[in-house]
Amino acid sequence: MSDARDLTRIDVFLDEDPSPVASFRPPEAFELDTTKISDGPHKLTIRAIDNKGSVSVREIRFEVHNGPGIDVVGLRPGDVVEGKIPVLVNAYAGTSEENWEPRRAETPAPVPTWAWVLFLAVTAWAMFYWAEDLRPGPEFANTPTYASAARIAKAAELQAPVSANPASVRPAEGIASSSSYPPPANASQPAAVSWHPPELSSIHSGPEGDSVRLGRNIIAETTKCAARYVANDMKCGDCHLNAGTLAGASALAGVTTVFPAYSQRAKRVISIEERIEECFVRSENGKPLPYGGPEMAAIVAYMTWLSQGVPVGSTIQGRGFPEVNRPSHVDPQHGANVYADKCSACHGSDGRGVPGAFPPLWGARSFSDGAGMSHVEKMAAFVKANMPPTAPGSLSAQDAFDVAAFVETKPRPKFNPRYSRY
Ligand code: HEC
Ligand code: HEC
Repeated sequence: MSDARDLTRIDVFLDEDPSPVASFRPPEAFELDTTKISDGPHKLTIRAIDNKGSVSVREIRFEVHNGPGIDVVGLRPGDVVEGKIPVLVNAYAGTSEENWEPRRAETPAPVPTWAWVLFLAVTAWAMFYWAEDLRPGPEFANTPTYASAARIAKAAELQAPVSANPASVRPAEGIASSSSYPPPANASQPAAVSWHPPELSSIHSGPEGDSVRLGRNIIAETTKCAARYVANDMKCGDCHLNAGTLAGASALAGVTTVFPAYSQRAKRVISIEERIEECFVRSENGKPLPYGGPEMAAIVAYMTWLSQGVPVGSTIQGRGFPEVNRPSHVDPQHGANVYADKCSACHGSDGRGVPGAFPPLWGARSFSDGAGMSHVEKMAAFVKANMPPTAPGSLSAQDAFDVAAFVETKPRPKFNPRYSRY
């Protein structure tokens, strides 16, 4: 393949139309408005010409589906039927809707008898274990096992804001805020140690190494490597910068040394898998990741590999985002000016970003309103430390809060409470 800089022009053609729908010097992103094309199969032809006159052509066949989806229950193609049969037909709006709700796409189907039998069997089994769990009565409440659970709960109640560590970076859960987020990961603050990302070459060969590599790819390219569980254009690495290795950008090192940890949101101790799932259903606006699956194992393997050298029970300096004090007055209107000056060049004046290059800040393809980043304090702290990437730390606390408050006024997907475990 020739280098992009040698190219003089790229032409993009739709179907058999001889005049290009887009023509530009690379690299550039362009928008294909599928609402202007009829539903059905189409072809995009991309023709690149370099300055020596050689031409390469790539054809991409795709299908447009903007019309309503149709679902039928009770009659399948080829069914042999007689008499009167009940047929249930549902139609739901297509992807052109801004805040598409999966719930409305569900066609209610009758529950088959076997499902009821299975449900009763599972309920009975669960009840049995639940009853078993209750067996150690109050007389055992002071044995070490039960007393320690009580201590954890007590410590959580008593939890006070942490003192800042020398780098003025403190665990993110320490950020003083009036909102219910962040949920502190731990009741007792773990010790913070300094940390450097391990060399990539230190990843082993063999199945464990492959798992670490897959985990890293999922963090960096979530929309590609874990596409089934993601419903927006966000990668973990868009918020956990440099594939989760950058201090002050919620680095993912040291998380496997402190989890399982107490979660303020859950009001109990949660596992690292549950914490990962939280970002999948809230930040990725997606679906829970199966705990026994290769993807979950890979993400935990990668975090464990990143955490090497961090003592068990300790976390790293620069966990979460550095603290930013909330200014006395936060002004989203001034934030709009900051956005136009300092952010829109990459994230777009419509906040949608550029797929594959700059992540969206709002709109249907962004994180949900249940995500940590949707809280003004969280975003201000992230932005102050990390944005714009060309000059991190250049914004004042006032500008960071104002721009975060401006972004907060914009629409984004609603968190689907069906996936909430707590
Ligand atoms: C829209 C931004 C965003 C995206 C995308 C995102 N996260 Fe997060 N994540 C956060 C924020 C914000 C926190 C809380 C940071 C804090 O307060 O320490 C967090 C916290 C975490 C934590 C706990 C860190 C700690 O120190 O306790 C883990 C683990 C995590 N995310 C994993 C993931 C994974 C895996 C993905 C991709 C599937 C992901 N995140 C995608 C924003 C995001
Ligand atoms: C030069 C391009 C550029 C500019 C300018 C820029 N960003 Fe970003 N932004 C990025 C990239 C790229 C990422 C993904 C993380 C990374 O790779 O550094 C990102 C990530 C983010 C995220 C987390 C991911 C998400 O989509 O929610 C937020 C929030 C954000 N930027 C806000 C801002 C704000 C606010 C400004 C203006 C003060 C700004 N950015 C300016 C390129 C930019």
